[in-house]
Amino acid sequence: MPTRLEKTLYRLQAQNACFAWAFEQITGKPGIVFELGLGLGRTYNHMHHHISDRRILAFDRKVGSYPDCTPDEKDIVLGELADTLPRAAEQYRGQVILAHTDIGSFDREQNRRLAQMMSNNLSPALAPGALVMSDLPLSVPETEPLPLPEGARADCYYLYRRV
Ligand SMILES: C[S@@+](CC[C@H](N)C(=O)[O-])C[C@H]1O[C@@H](n2cnc3c(N)ncnc32)[C@H](O)[C@@H]1O
Repeated sequence: MPTRLEKTLYRLQAQNACFAWAFEQITGKPGIVFELGLGLGRTYNHMHHHISDRRILAFDRKVGSYPDCTPDEKDIVLGELADTLPRAAEQYRGQVILAHTDIGSFDREQNRRLAQMMSNNLSPALAPGALVMSDLPLSVPETEPLPLPEGARADCYYLYRRV
């Protein structure tokens, strides 16, 4: 049984490996990015650094990110995802080439509810061939699960592609 430290390490390794893989996969494909769960802005900062030509819309209840990891105001969507995601999925219908969802916690029941909400609302936003990277297992309509890239341990992160 891995320790909490090891679990965190494995999750971050998987996240980093999935990002590297996803950045390659979306090269040359048009589309914007959804960052669902801005948090401290670490993954937003990573994406902004590596795919600086993309518009990245970041979602959260509030802005709690490091100053140097905070998007422009026009690229922040504040509120409960159950409210903001369905609206954004309609507004940006078919335009999202990469969605990263990072909203899980140690509360299993809450994770289950959040994964359901995400699965129910994300699909309209996805462009053909779009990738979804998630810290929770999802079942988004019209997507298929993908194997994780080298360097990512199974069940530490989840990848899907819009078919
Ligand atoms: C694990 S943190 C994200 C970490 C971030 N990706 C980073 O690298 O710093 C999860 C974030 O998701 C947000 N979140 C979780 N559930 C949410 C919901 N239902 N609506 C809006 N934001 C939510 C929390 O406020 C929190 O900031």
